[in-house]
Amino acid sequence: MTRITLRRPDDWHLHLRDGAMLAAVLPHSARHFARALVMPNLVPPVRTGADAAAYRARILAALPPDVDFTPLMTLYLTEETNPRDVVCAHRAGLIAAVKLYPAGATTNSTSGVRDFDRIRPVLEAMAEAGVPLCVHGEVTDPEVDIFDREAVFLTRVLDPIRRATPGLRVVLEHVTTAEGLDYVRSGGPQIGGTITAHHLVINRNAILAGGIRPHYYCLPVAKRESHRQALVAAATAAPPCFFLGTDSAPHPDADKEAACGCAGCYTAPVALPVLAEVFDRAGALDRLERFASLNGAAFYGLAPNAATVTLERGPPLPRPGRLPAGEAGVTVFDPGFPLHWQVLR
Ligand code: NCD
Ligand code: ZN
Repeated sequence: MTRITLRRPDDWHLHLRDGAMLAAVLPHSARHFARALVMPNLVPPVRTGADAAAYRARILAALPPDVDFTPLMTLYLTEETNPRDVVCAHRAGLIAAVKLYPAGATTNSTSGVRDFDRIRPVLEAMAEAGVPLCVHGEVTDPEVDIFDREAVFLTRVLDPIRRATPGLRVVLEHVTTAEGLDYVRSGGPQIGGTITAHHLVINRNAILAGGIRPHYYCLPVAKRESHRQALVAAATAAPPCFFLGTDSAPHPDADKEAACGCAGCYTAPVALPVLAEVFDRAGALDRLERFASLNGAAFYGLAPNAATVTLERGPPLPRPGRLPAGEAGVTVFDPGFPLHWQVLR
């Protein structure tokens, strides 16, 4: 197969940032994706319905003309989040989900949740109103090894929350482990999981072997090869519970190439070509549409996009380079192998 046409994909986990960075990265997501669930971890975070409305307006103002792209907003859950504000914002169509960051788990998560008992009322209101909770599933306990933080989160935090809040719809974001996949697969229709493009192609060696490579460092950190293989099997089987969330997370290169570098891979411009390569190699191109364009929309109760996108396989594309943004630019994720699939305009 050298051409494949699918419904326009959606990105169910995207960092667009704000200001000049927003202006630099937004066109690259909007070119390939019809909709994206926009993460709220700005500084300060997007905490209220009013914050989400203002951020949404800034995104729409930064959109290039003639591009069909809908940002779906999220709220950043804190211990002070007002349940009524969440339910009203969702009912008004202003937000699609609420995001839970355990405090300190990742970039800009200091306002996140420390005491999970304090968010019980808002979770109950969300369960009743059908507002999905998107979860950064890692414990922050410094005693827990960083490669185990996702698996430990499932038993220590997520499962108790779900048992205490029946009916709560949950998305386990950027799943990186076989344990996370199993948890989602066995959790029934109330739970979904997003999988990034980069976790399908790198394992932890990409970050650490033969020199330290900060552009492959993100959170949750890539795990060992057996987990990557489990992720590829899950994504390419594409049951309804798994869908694409790129977690494309741009940082200025100066902040990544540093003694204490930021977590986040900037994948948006190459996410679809990388996915096509992965699905092609797995003999699963016919299931790419389910993973990238159908399953997520169904989970969020939205119709799939009517428009289509066509990918074509040709000679290897130039290696991804650096996006001009700010002083240092932003390095685009390089999967480490040539990409052959490109999105036709
Ligand atoms: C994200 C970011 O930079 O905002 N970083 C990352 O490594 N994925 C935050 C997040 O989603 O964890
Ligand atoms: Zn993220």
